[in-house]
Amino acid sequence: MEQKDKKILCVGLVCLDIISVVDKYPEEDTDSRCVSQRWQRGGNASNSCTVLSLLGSPCAFMGSLCAGPVASFIVEDFQKLNVDMSLVSEHAQCITPTSLVISSRSTGSRTILHLNRNVPDVTAEDFSKVDLRHFKWIHWEGRNADEQLKMIERVARYNATLLPQQRITVSVEIEKPREPLYELFAYGDVVFVSKDVARHFGFQTPSSALEGLRCRVKAGAVLICAWAEKGADALAPDGSLVHSDAFPPEHLVDTLGAGDTFNAAVIHKLSNGARLQDALTFGCAVAGSKCGFHGYDGIADMAASQYWKHDGSAGDI
Ligand code: ADP
Ligand code: FRU
Repeated sequence: MEQKDKKILCVGLVCLDIISVVDKYPEEDTDSRCVSQRWQRGGNASNSCTVLSLLGSPCAFMGSLCAGPVASFIVEDFQKLNVDMSLVSEHAQCITPTSLVISSRSTGSRTILHLNRNVPDVTAEDFSKVDLRHFKWIHWEGRNADEQLKMIERVARYNATLLPQQRITVSVEIEKPREPLYELFAYGDVVFVSKDVARHFGFQTPSSALEGLRCRVKAGAVLICAWAEKGADALAPDGSLVHSDAFPPEHLVDTLGAGDTFNAAVIHKLSNGARLQDALTFGCAVAGSKCGFHGYDGIADMAASQYWKHDGSAGDI
């Protein structure tokens, strides 16, 4: 199989998002109306698959699914988006992880209350059955890091048997400030670190986070830090720093999944051979646009209308 025909695999969580859109974030212990409510397939890796697919990158999701009507909703949505689900494992006895999300129209903020009772994460043993020949890029949402390190080591052993241009690129996302996840820094060819983690380390800007965390990534890796309305910065393989401003939408409507959108758009570009600067700018353009509408469907319309110019900047429709 040629590299261009291979897929991007995202390993991580799929859950149900129950989203209540409000005009203004409610006071505690009040009884108020919301503007609308909807169900949406959620979870970082799952959201990134949605965006990859909408941008035209064939992709697969690997994670755990439960049984019942909620799982059916999730499966149908994956199918609608053309996301390959052949690596999903079913855990019929489990309860689908669910987030209650309050999405505020006045600020664009999203407040998430998440519950995951008993769904197991993908293990290295599950991953040992994956036919790596089908993939050009594998992205891990940092979760059960000890197992994820073993999976990445398997990919490294596989890559060692291949010519450089045939190798699988490994990306990892370190989003939650949890000590065990920090081991993943040293394992990605591309490492996405969140502003939450950066702040947890005491950094107040993306560039200072990259300077402070660069010692944790392997030589030649790319380290990327997105920072909401400040855009995103990246450390290039040669050690130089790259920046993109944010692309704020006219009206900030929905920031849920902005980070997952950004990651997917950057991966989409880099996996097609783009320069880091272009990938970063494109990531900010797509994520910024996404903040201007609910959900992800608008990404398809914008991709079709060439809203994002080839240099990654947002242009007129
Ligand atoms: P999350 O909190 O979902 O992880 P981030 O805050 O890291 O997401 O933002 C990811 C990217 O989304 C940013 O780099 C930026 O390009 C875009 N983005 C997020 N919030 C805004 C905003 N308020 N205005 C413009 N762009 C935004
Ligand atoms: C957004 C998201 C939601 C989900 C939550 C899980 O980034 O993936 O879809 O409810 O985060 O932490």
